Amino acid sequence: MLTAHNIAAELPTSFKLSEEQQLIRETIREMAQAEFAPRAAEIDQKHRFPRENWNLLAASDLCGLPFPEQYGGAGLDNVSYAIVVEELASACATTSVMYSAHVSLCAKPIYVLGNEEQKMRFLPPMCQGKKMGAFALSEPGSGSDAASAKCMAVRTGNQFILNGSKNWITNGVEADYYIVIAQTDQALKHKGLVALIVEKGSPGFTFGKLEDKLGIKGSSTCQINFEDTPVPVENMLGDVGDGFSVAMITLDGGRIGIGAQAVGIAQGAWDHCFRYTKERVAFGKTINNFQAIQFMMAEMQTEIDAARLLVYNASVAQDSGEKFTKYAAHAKLFASEMAMRNTTKCVQIFGGYGYVTDYPVERYMRDAKITEIYEGTSEVQRLVIAQNVLKGL
Ligand code: CAA
Repeated sequence: MLTAHNIAAELPTSFKLSEEQQLIRETIREMAQAEFAPRAAEIDQKHRFPRENWNLLAASDLCGLPFPEQYGGAGLDNVSYAIVVEELASACATTSVMYSAHVSLCAKPIYVLGNEEQKMRFLPPMCQGKKMGAFALSEPGSGSDAASAKCMAVRTGNQFILNGSKNWITNGVEADYYIVIAQTDQALKHKGLVALIVEKGSPGFTFGKLEDKLGIKGSSTCQINFEDTPVPVENMLGDVGDGFSVAMITLDGGRIGIGAQAVGIAQGAWDHCFRYTKERVAFGKTINNFQAIQFMMAEMQTEIDAARLLVYNASVAQDSGEKFTKYAAHAKLFASEMAMRNTTKCVQIFGGYGYVTDYPVERYMRDAKITEIYEGTSEVQRLVIAQNVLKGL
């Protein structure tokens, strides 16, 4: 039964950024708009991985932003991290996904679930941006049904031998460390999975072709393949059987990052639209004088703010140490669908100019689509929310 208490618990935290968080937003916005936005169209057109953007993120001490200083991080909170992802996405979605896959999907699980030796070995070079991270869960035959992974890890002595393939790997050929979720015993299903940190250059570890994607075209996405690849036992996160939990806990955090990315994409498209409506003349007036346009701009800004609050709410829950699975799913579901709706509206406002590459809004629309798919489709988010609501969480 609903009570005043649990109704209130459903509401997003009433939000005011701290001075430090505001400063982070201003600093990253300035850098992203000056350095990344001008290159975004060229990166998209040439499908070019922007290594120079990564180098600048590293030089700016952003690659380990939410990790303690003892591991080389900046020791900031997850709200600050969401702000950074958002500002990067507003300028260049490719750069934001390169960054969030590294932080959320690889460094984060090592920090949260790794032992001290693993943290000291892997985190400092990742925080300094000397090594880039990736996450390998999906396979050619398993996406939403993550538990049905078939890539095999067989233990022999003090190592696992990996055989199989992983699909859609963000930071594909560019990464150095890959968290690979593999099966030790098909009969055990999700209870047989193990999470292993695999290093680039390991014997039998090869890359498939780069995917030719609809959006985020500069990000490196490919299949990775293992043929009798040895992985030392000390590279295992947790124990045999923990692989599914490692994946789910990782994705809980990653989904907030994708929500932030979607907010940034929507805000970036809205900003371009705002400027355009003040310049474009129709029927003798600039189009921002027409109520049809004003209503679209107002609705979009309302939805962007709502999504942003859900992202910050999930980040605050993550920072507080409470279970945040449902809040992360709320944020990703709403923000990604909002970004798709709103970037489509932005294209509509630009009319014919929205449909060509001379203006950036078509790129934002193409970049938005993936946020409804990766790190759990919208349908998976609805499933996660339903499961948590029904369990009363
Ligand atoms: N945290 C910790 N444990 C969790 C959990 C969570 N958030 N969610 C589930 N679990 C545990 C459950 O408690 C359960 O444990 P027990 O067996 O001990 O009871 C176990 O995991 C199995 O749970 P379910 O029965 O709910 O699992 P399921 O098979 O029904 O799957 C699912 C649930 C939500 C559909 C899940 O498979 C899922 O999230 N699928 C989507 C996968 C995904 O997001 N893939 C994207 C890959 S990353 C990517 O996109 C590439 C990239 O590089 C960006």
